[in-house]
Amino acid sequence: MDWGMKNRMGRIFKQDGRTVMLAVDHGYFLGAVSRLEEPRRTIEPLIPYADSLMITRGVLRNCIDAKYNIPIVLRVSGGNSILDEDLSNEGLTVSLQDALRLNACAVALSIYVGSPHEHQTLVNLAHLINEAENYGIPVLAVTAVGKELEKRDAKYLSLSCRIAAELGAHIVKTYYCEDFDKVVKSCPVPLVIAGGPKMKSELDVLGIAYNAIASGARGVDMGRNIWQSKWPVAMISAIRSIVHEGASIGKATHLFENLKAKKK
Ligand code: R5P
Repeated sequence: MDWGMKNRMGRIFKQDGRTVMLAVDHGYFLGAVSRLEEPRRTIEPLIPYADSLMITRGVLRNCIDAKYNIPIVLRVSGGNSILDEDLSNEGLTVSLQDALRLNACAVALSIYVGSPHEHQTLVNLAHLINEAENYGIPVLAVTAVGKELEKRDAKYLSLSCRIAAELGAHIVKTYYCEDFDKVVKSCPVPLVIAGGPKMKSELDVLGIAYNAIASGARGVDMGRNIWQSKWPVAMISAIRSIVHEGASIGKATHLFENLKAKKK
């Protein structure tokens, strides 16, 4: 690996090889999603607890001060919206020059395997990697499943993750599922998990974070289950304890409850 690529990967994945990415890029197709209506208000208090921010260029430029020394994972695909039945019609929306101008540490793009625009999104990924390799920028492939969340089983996710890795993605983001170790084992690059829509309880979220790490995931790239919580700092802190300190679900829940009592 070239020095630049190694350095950027090392900024995202900490000394223990793991990472807590904070995903706040949802507006690129969901608009002003609940609790992210005013991005600065939601994001700023969480910055000290995140290892990187996954974000769009518009929110980065307008809502995040450049003084923060947090690695940026820049969302560079889009062109769809929640109003469309088919979410898979994405293209590249940001040039690599602009990503570099924003000092992005990595760029992120969604692929939709098994969707009407599978080919287009996979070729988008390949083209982005070709470009990004020229500058030593890691590419994070998001194995998006659109609205059909029932597709989230190990067979499907393993297929999507493996294809992303075969095309050259440096990091793959996917969803947690049963038999997650099979997804991890068949993907030769670091895997991080998304959280998906807000779950019923904090315990459920801590449970998937714990199980994913125990199965070999290298971290999380979570959004809604952190910042849609009434206690976002408590949530991200509890998740950090699982990812970076090897906390059990019980220990992480205890930390969450403690911080919640302090209204964090
Ligand atoms: C899609 O909106 C984005 O790629 C999100 O970054 C991703 O889904 C992770 O966020 P969440 O944990 O809210 O699913």
